[in-house]
Amino acid sequence: VAANLLGVAISPAMAADVSVGDDNTSVWSRQDAEKVTLTKENTAPKIDLEFDLVAPDLWVWDTWPLQNRDGSLAIINGYRVAFALVAPRDLGWGDRHTEARIGMFYSKNGKDWTYAGIPYDYDRALGYMQWAGTSMIDEDGKVHLFYTATGDRENWDYNGWDKRAVQRLAKTTFDISANKNGVHLTNEGKHEIILEADGKHYETIEQANSPIITAFRDPFFLQDPNTGKEYIIFEGQAGSNRDFIKPENIGDEEYRKTHSVPEGAELYNGNIGIAEVLDEDVSELKLLPPLLESVGTNHQLERPHVVVNGDDYYLFTISHTFTYAPGLTGPDGVYGFVGNSLFGDYKPMNESGLVIANPKENPYQAYSWMVLPDHQVISFINEPLDENGEVKFGGTFAPTLKLQLDGETSKVTKEGKHGEIKPFGANR
Ligand code: FRU
Repeated sequence: VAANLLGVAISPAMAADVSVGDDNTSVWSRQDAEKVTLTKENTAPKIDLEFDLVAPDLWVWDTWPLQNRDGSLAIINGYRVAFALVAPRDLGWGDRHTEARIGMFYSKNGKDWTYAGIPYDYDRALGYMQWAGTSMIDEDGKVHLFYTATGDRENWDYNGWDKRAVQRLAKTTFDISANKNGVHLTNEGKHEIILEADGKHYETIEQANSPIITAFRDPFFLQDPNTGKEYIIFEGQAGSNRDFIKPENIGDEEYRKTHSVPEGAELYNGNIGIAEVLDEDVSELKLLPPLLESVGTNHQLERPHVVVNGDDYYLFTISHTFTYAPGLTGPDGVYGFVGNSLFGDYKPMNESGLVIANPKENPYQAYSWMVLPDHQVISFINEPLDENGEVKFGGTFAPTLKLQLDGETSKVTKEGKHGEIKPFGANR
């Protein structure tokens, strides 16, 4: 009889089905995740409760900067540009997801951000709501905004929305200009769907059977600096051909002798998907098998993104305590995996995968971290606790952190002000 992380004994009778699969997808196993522990190297500093709101009328959460095609941060006529999910602050905190839109921000100094509104026409956009993505400016100065078109607008029904909120990867384009009055996006292009779940490598909404919402979302554009090839990386769930736990999802042979997997763990089937970009406009894509999966370990590998350091490929993702499979736990935080090519065999960083955690006494203070190419880490203030243990809802930029990467290990330090992006990048 094995004891899991929570100290609960699991009898073999409760164990889930384990069978053998056949792809090369890297694995974040239960054995890896069992090593997750908070240390001073991975714990983020506590966030001060006296924070200002970057856009006082709005909830602001998942944020991403405008990047050049090669991944470096774009500087447009001296301005940095960022996009973030926004919703009216008079909606309930929990209701913001269902009214999410993408807003634009710009800043001259990378510290003081001006909110410039929602740059697209909602009537032309796809999905009932627009969820996270990334943005890239190409050689001709076209801005490509990649996002998740979530919920079917025609058949929208708020009740039970999370079970029916189909997610597709979408994009549109803009021209961009900047003058003393700020940054402007004009000439909005058509909105188009660029990727949908195939049901084989990536679960469709019809196949979803987990207690937690299914994912096919959060597109991240990547140009591999070593090959020049381009990809979209995204959050998915294992599809119909992977509806089971393989031995390697559990751990090595020695570990498997003593570890039984609790029943229901197979319903936690997160993966990090990838598709190859076939054209200049990033509108034709070829879906490939996932880069990494956490079947039996964790349901959500959200907002995956890649930072390349020479020959080291760092695959980062964010995940939650509540999305760990039965028998496992870990903090809301950044998880990272390192490989020696984009399709390389990814190993969990710091042995467990944990890279940045919220502090133990403030477990939900921040979320949705994004590690930028120079290892600055942006995120948003989520649900920090005051001295009475009451939640103070954030919905604004969190202080920027800095990640030191050293092969398979990392260390987090405090770096900057709220939403600060220190000056690096390439002028256009
Ligand atoms: C992460 C996330 C994303 C999604 C968005 C929806 O915070 O769950 O995966 O796009 O929030 O609000």
